[in-house]
Amino acid sequence: MIRLYKVTKRLGEHKFALRDVTLNVAPGEFVLVTGPTGSGKSTLLKVLFGDEDFASGRGIVNGRNLNRLDGPGLASLRRELGLVFQDSRLIDRLPIVDNVSLAAEVAGVPRPEARARARRLLETIGLGDHAEVSPLVLSAGERQRVSLARALVNNPALLLADEPTGSLDPDASNEILDLLVEVNRGGTTVVIATHDQEALSLLRCRTLFMYEGRLIEEDQSGFDDTRIVADL
Ligand SMILES: Nc1ncnc2c1ncn2[C@@H]1O[C@H](COP(=O)(O)OP(=O)(O)OP(=O)(O)O)[C@@H](O)[C@H]1O
Ligand SMILES: [Mg+2]
Repeated sequence: MIRLYKVTKRLGEHKFALRDVTLNVAPGEFVLVTGPTGSGKSTLLKVLFGDEDFASGRGIVNGRNLNRLDGPGLASLRRELGLVFQDSRLIDRLPIVDNVSLAAEVAGVPRPEARARARRLLETIGLGDHAEVSPLVLSAGERQRVSLARALVNNPALLLADEPTGSLDPDASNEILDLLVEVNRGGTTVVIATHDQEALSLLRCRTLFMYEGRLIEEDQSGFDDTRIVADL
């Protein structure tokens, strides 16, 4: 699903956003990316959805070559992926059902079908009764659930989430994590960048640690900061 080979992105002569990042993620995997602030987690996700280019290295995401993405290729890649960000990025002047269905319509799904999908997804995330309300009246956790529904409306092969629980309290955060696990059980590959220690301890899955643009694979027993830094 994801293959990166020695992807490097420089910020200055001695500073790297990504440094020799090599990563393979198989279809159906659930992967967490963690590490200190500024270590490159968001940059890595942006590379994966074609929002950041890189100076050297190679990358393939869902069969698309990141080194050769033209406009149409990039648009196709985006349609194949689901994206969730810390700030839900909903359109406040549209009811939530339209926020979700619009993402399908933009991808070419006829409006009735798009709206039916959106309604089904809103039921799944427990907001079926709120379909016609503005995102403005929702709590942060609810907004984030809508943003997840929007990311899923085109049945993505890969879901990328950057700090999806970053602004949520523990309960709302757990709801989002549960939904992500469920999505993964349905076959979608999931990659999450997160600081959230609770998420990390709760989801005992493959965890990657970033440090100054480098990616270090960790086992499932958590990580020892000092050892990682000393190894570099
Ligand atoms: N477009 C850019 N131009 C210059 N510097 C950038 C750019 N994008 C990212 N950076 C820098 O790259 C480094 C990695 O940033 P990134 O946002 O990927 O970190 P992060 O691990 O996601 O951090 P956080 O945990 O705070 O979200 C930081 O030093 C950041 O300032
Ligand atoms: Mg970030």
